[in-house]
Amino acid sequence: TALPILTKLQKDCATPLPLLRNIADAMAKDMRDGLEVDGGSDLKMILSYVDSLPTGNERGLFYALDLGGTNFRVLRTQLGGKDERVIDTEFEQVSIPQDLMSGTSEELFDFIALALAKFVKKEGGKFVLPKNRSRETGFTFSFPVKQTSIDSGILIKWTKGFAVSGTPGRDIVACLNEAMGRQGLDMRVSALVNDTVATLAGARYWDNNVMVAVILGTGTNACYVEAVDAIPKLQGHNSISGRTIVNTEWGAFSNGLPLTEYDREMDAESINPGEQLFEKTISGMYLGEIVRRVLVRMEETGSLFGNYIPERLHTPFALGTPNISSMQQDTSQDLENVGSILYESIGVDSNLDARKMVVEVCDTIAKRGGRLAGAGIVGILQKMEEDSKGIVFGKRMVVAMDGGLYEHYPQYRRYLKEAVTELLGPELSGHVVIEHSKDGSGIGAALLAATNSIYEH
Ligand code: BG6
Ligand code: GLC
Repeated sequence: TALPILTKLQKDCATPLPLLRNIADAMAKDMRDGLEVDGGSDLKMILSYVDSLPTGNERGLFYALDLGGTNFRVLRTQLGGKDERVIDTEFEQVSIPQDLMSGTSEELFDFIALALAKFVKKEGGKFVLPKNRSRETGFTFSFPVKQTSIDSGILIKWTKGFAVSGTPGRDIVACLNEAMGRQGLDMRVSALVNDTVATLAGARYWDNNVMVAVILGTGTNACYVEAVDAIPKLQGHNSISGRTIVNTEWGAFSNGLPLTEYDREMDAESINPGEQLFEKTISGMYLGEIVRRVLVRMEETGSLFGNYIPERLHTPFALGTPNISSMQQDTSQDLENVGSILYESIGVDSNLDARKMVVEVCDTIAKRGGRLAGAGIVGILQKMEEDSKGIVFGKRMVVAMDGGLYEHYPQYRRYLKEAVTELLGPELSGHVVIEHSKDGSGIGAALLAATNSIYEH
């Protein structure tokens, strides 16, 4: 039987409160060490050069590009200032063809520039560009970038399954500008931002209490508003507001994670072994794959699915996180939906006992992920509280959240919130609002393009 495997899995994945506390403390410490000096901890604590957040006064036509999630998006928005806010927005999205994710830099950026050029051609209606001006765009690029200014930055490395050659070490805006040149498109990139930073900016446009943004999608990351004085490695940077946004790149966090043999094997076989361990434990790209690896073990040593073992069960990433979320939503007596998902994704026939076992495995992996994500958020709040000498806790504090994992996996969401409440207690956690800010990053990038525009608007 597969039961001993499940029991061991649950034990290895357990996240009791003391463990969560250690995670939150370690997160806060890693943040501090990463702010001290580059390379000071697993967390890169990247300076975004975003010192002023949208105010609501932004006006004019702005574009945004968004690369890094399941879809590539282009967007335009006409901003009308304080009273009118967003006059109109249009967007289009396409999924990035698999071969482009491991092709050359030129191919990837040509694809982006071409999609943008086509989109610009359809501009009309309420969208107006004043005479003698170039169009301006914000570029949300959801990978670790060493920013050199608000509108330039060097790709440190790819994450989340991208392995495009020739981009790491290059300025992303230069890559895009060259491709736009090849497509004959005249557009100025006014802001290059991480998706967390764009999400924070987008959410702040509507709510002044937004101080943190988190992505839980294909990958995971968080950014927050930091006091310039609390960043020793930032020397000679003048921020009028005294604050700036820091992109933690928390996907690289690794201290004290409850990892299993399945995690270690998945990591060892990944394209970035030893890297992004927090991301590999809690984010959407990996949860289904961890479950699949457990099922393989259950099949091999516990004969979970009977005699016939299909190849697809052994195919990496055949079981997606959307699959494991759907299976957990099945409330029917015979778990019929679980059965068909197992059949369609990994080709196995299952009886009721096997289906129940599978749901338990999904729940174990989602629970660990959600609770660790919650502990990570508390780690950030703790760091902000300690360094601000107590002005954070007890006031309304909004965490803007985006990403498909959070949006489409109710159990994961619940585990995350439970962990936050357990760690902070009912009183303090009552002030922390986790707000789903769907696609806030698109408008956020456009707003930051406006804030950093070279024109008077
Ligand atoms: C979006 C961002 O809103 O959320 C993307 O702008 C980001 O860049 C994404 O990565 C997360 O989405 P997904 O598809 O990974 O769930
Ligand atoms: C990965 C990227 C990071 C991004 C996150 C969420 O962790 O390295 O930059 O913010 O995914 O999309």
